[in-house]
Amino acid sequence: MHPVDYIARKRDGHELTKEELTAWIHSYVKGAIPDYQMAAWLMAVYLQGMSKGETSALTEAMVSSGETLDLSEFGTLTGDKHSTGGVGDKTSFVVGPLAAACGVKVAKMSGRGLSHTGGTIDKLESIAQIRTSLSVTDFMAQVKQIGLVICGQTADLAPADKLLYALRDVTATVDSLPLIASSIMSKKIAAGAQHIVLDVKVGEGAFMKTIEQGIELAATMVGIGADLGRNVVAYITDMNAPLGRSIGNALEVYEAVQTLKGNGPKDLTDICVVLAAEMVHLAKKISFEQAKTDVIAALTSGQGLEKFKQMVEAQGGLWDQAQNIPVLPQAPVTWQVYAMQEGYIETIHALQLGQIAMELGAGRERKEDAIDPAVGIVLHKQPGDFCTLEAPLATLYTRTEAQARRAQEKLLKAVKWSALQPEAVPHYYAKVTL
Ligand code: URA
Repeated sequence: MHPVDYIARKRDGHELTKEELTAWIHSYVKGAIPDYQMAAWLMAVYLQGMSKGETSALTEAMVSSGETLDLSEFGTLTGDKHSTGGVGDKTSFVVGPLAAACGVKVAKMSGRGLSHTGGTIDKLESIAQIRTSLSVTDFMAQVKQIGLVICGQTADLAPADKLLYALRDVTATVDSLPLIASSIMSKKIAAGAQHIVLDVKVGEGAFMKTIEQGIELAATMVGIGADLGRNVVAYITDMNAPLGRSIGNALEVYEAVQTLKGNGPKDLTDICVVLAAEMVHLAKKISFEQAKTDVIAALTSGQGLEKFKQMVEAQGGLWDQAQNIPVLPQAPVTWQVYAMQEGYIETIHALQLGQIAMELGAGRERKEDAIDPAVGIVLHKQPGDFCTLEAPLATLYTRTEAQARRAQEKLLKAVKWSALQPEAVPHYYAKVTL
């Protein structure tokens, strides 16, 4: 079929077959389709949507556009997780080690942050000397020996996604459900794990603003998993306020380690236990209740922390043996922020906090920007807490006092107050399975 016909068929709301989608995507990756024709096609998909069958076929075509990792030597014990992204989201550093401590082979490849805060790899790189770029051989050896790897993409996985995402970014076609679902799932499928736990964030600080949108995206991704032979379960979780207390790369790693020591904030600990238990339940084929008991045991015994330490050291990262934490950088300025009024905190606007952290240097405004691993925010109060005038509301970690003053002003505006204690946000709003 001629490229113009692919565009016209989608423009007019027709379905493309699996063979047609494969030819279309593979030709684009080979350079045989120019960006302007793919851009027109993406806009047609954005406006017309895709059927479930087409979305799975598009994902499969994106997977087969590059290499795939073969984890079959680990049987059906392999697990992976993915979060659609949010402010203060450091769950991978807790969920991965807890699931690995329970016997799952956690093989996770992550990305860098595109916007307000760093991505998983940026956060991991705040650990002194850690390597996040592994060869396939080293990746496989670490899965075998430790049962846990979190690193950047090793092989050339789903190259179609990289090209398409860059084009979507500049053609106002990012916000399309089939395009988001196929983008995320193509990378997860290519990375090889059998069991995939998705954390779909909803709210002010997330891609998906409503629970309904989150459920629709989750159901599409669970369906893709089923069509392509993977076991996928999705949780819909809150991202109106930041997750946990810390925002900023090293600060988030530190909070994840504290959580693995049993000293983490309740919201973060609770959701990590649920996500890890789901992975253990799927991979080890035991009941969810038993899996949750095992995960809590891995947390309280310190086995989860030990797994994280093994992973950091295997990847060359430095570990402070005396404090039993990774070696992390410290910002020069520590600045306490006090509230201007007393009362309950109803919410703290996630996106605004993400933007404050980005302005301090914790995230990227442009792709080529460098990240400052040391800076960020630690909240001492979270939604539902009562805040007095005497105890600090937050601590800012910055390079200069001028930055801290500007950030303080914005932070105080991001807090919504209430005279009454607000209702607690549930650990998750919904669970989406087949
Ligand atoms: N994350 C991805 O990997 N792809 C998208 O399209 C959106 C979020």
